[in-house]
Amino acid sequence: MSRVALITGGTRGIGAAISKALKAEGYIVSATFAGNEEKAAIFTAETGIETFKWDVADYDACISGIEEIENKLGPVEVLVNNAGITRDAPFHKMSQKQWSDVMRTNLDGVFNMTHPLWNGMRQRKFGRVINISSINGQKGQFAQVNYSAAKAGDIGFTKALAQEGARAGITVNAICPGYISTEMVMAVPEKVRETIVAQIPVGRLGEAAEIARCVVFLASDDAGFITGATLTANGGQYMAS
Ligand code: CAA
Repeated sequence: MSRVALITGGTRGIGAAISKALKAEGYIVSATFAGNEEKAAIFTAETGIETFKWDVADYDACISGIEEIENKLGPVEVLVNNAGITRDAPFHKMSQKQWSDVMRTNLDGVFNMTHPLWNGMRQRKFGRVINISSINGQKGQFAQVNYSAAKAGDIGFTKALAQEGARAGITVNAICPGYISTEMVMAVPEKVRETIVAQIPVGRLGEAAEIARCVVFLASDDAGFITGATLTANGGQYMAS
């Protein structure tokens, strides 16, 4: 029987590629989005994937949104915590709001989505939690104290929760994409982006589909012995051990 997968921020960028790749593998896919209804409608029209609107920073909204999906599609067995935002600024210019917006979405959001699903996964003795972290959570990034802290937090979350899930058949892993050709990276000033690409040994930005293939592998039954891992996919830009 097909497993149900839930991808946060699953209608755009890396998340859209993940939703499509999991659907192609036979999963029943549900994708959440926070605000862009127009993009979500186009996404559903193109892919047939159902979308659900709520803010992952809101714990109560996560509980009721997940309940709606599970009532409609069945228990969620694969959770991909992909939703993320940037609010870049050098630290001396960073506001408390820029800090907390990023922490609430990129770190609290991972708790808020995983926590309501955890007991069900434990009872069924199967689960896949895949957290989309970032190269910048591994190496740090100028003008991203907020984002780097949240994304590093996602890696710590992954390593700790993996230990709790292991005996219950639940794997918890992180993927650290490098700079991928998405709207988020295209929003970086062109001059800055050129310097970034110059630092990538393969000589190009990554493709969202290249990250989606990592997710498909970690979600599969074949990946059951991999847990607490950080899978780095960054074109050689940062070689984390
Ligand atoms: N290292 C050292 N110094 C740097 C630097 C760096 N990487 N980047 C910029 N600077 C310096 C500039 O040269 C400038 O110095 P001067 O004042 O001496 O000229 C100073 O820092 C910045 O001054 P600005 O007034 O230009 O700063 P700003 O307030 O306008 O901010 C910025 C500009 C937000 C830093 C902009 O340059 C930027 O967006 N940089 C890219 C940050 C980045 O890589 N974000 C990643 C987004 S993609 C993503 O996050 C996805 C993922 O997971 C990979």
